[in-house]
Amino acid sequence: MGSIDAETLKFYTREAEAYCAQPLPAKNERLDLFLAALPAGAKILELGCGGGRDSRMMLARGFDVTPTDGSPDMARQAEKLLGRPVAVLPFDQLDGNGIYDAVWANACLLHIPRPKLSAVLWRIHRALKAGGIFYASFKAGKAEGRDRFQRYYNYPSRDWLLSRYAPPGWMSAQIDEACGGGYDGEKTDWLHVTAIRTA
Ligand SMILES: C[S@@+](CC[C@H](N)C(=O)[O-])C[C@H]1O[C@@H](n2cnc3c(N)ncnc32)[C@H](O)[C@@H]1O
Repeated sequence: MGSIDAETLKFYTREAEAYCAQPLPAKNERLDLFLAALPAGAKILELGCGGGRDSRMMLARGFDVTPTDGSPDMARQAEKLLGRPVAVLPFDQLDGNGIYDAVWANACLLHIPRPKLSAVLWRIHRALKAGGIFYASFKAGKAEGRDRFQRYYNYPSRDWLLSRYAPPGWMSAQIDEACGGGYDGEKTDWLHVTAIRTA
């Protein structure tokens, strides 16, 4: 199953149904902002789509969305919600070149082991068109570790994360820090990164 951390994959296999049974939010302001910067019908790749909640909103707004997830069980759950095929795509197997206007990766690249993050960001860079927009969110911290479910997290600091999005590959990289939650019910500091692929 590609490079997915074994314990993390075990969690998403075991919890797929419960995870996807969480109530669907009526609104997602961060997603609204991301979509507002895109032309109508833009081609969007969603990585780590989980149960497909965000893809559902993007599809409802008329975008050309490709939902994907590295866990076959999560992808099957997303298929049920979306009523369309969802590709099983571990991040390190993303292969496209200049295809997408945007990539949406909410709360999923946080599971990539630190030494492998730059290589995945490079794959995302290559998959985007020049000027393409990339959003990802991470749980903030100082050192990699696991949560109480044994899921792996890279827990970056703001500065460490920003340094992964250096020019000349990326421009206008911005990090918005906000307090939020997660499936573990813990109060969490989140880092929301938006960057643009340079020409
Ligand atoms: C915390 S969930 C977030 C799901 C969704 N993006 C959301 O916001 O509800 C993380 C997702 O990343 C997926 N994932 C974890 N490691 C992955 C990897 N290496 N490649 C692709 N997907 C992965 C998991 O299967 C899971 O669906």
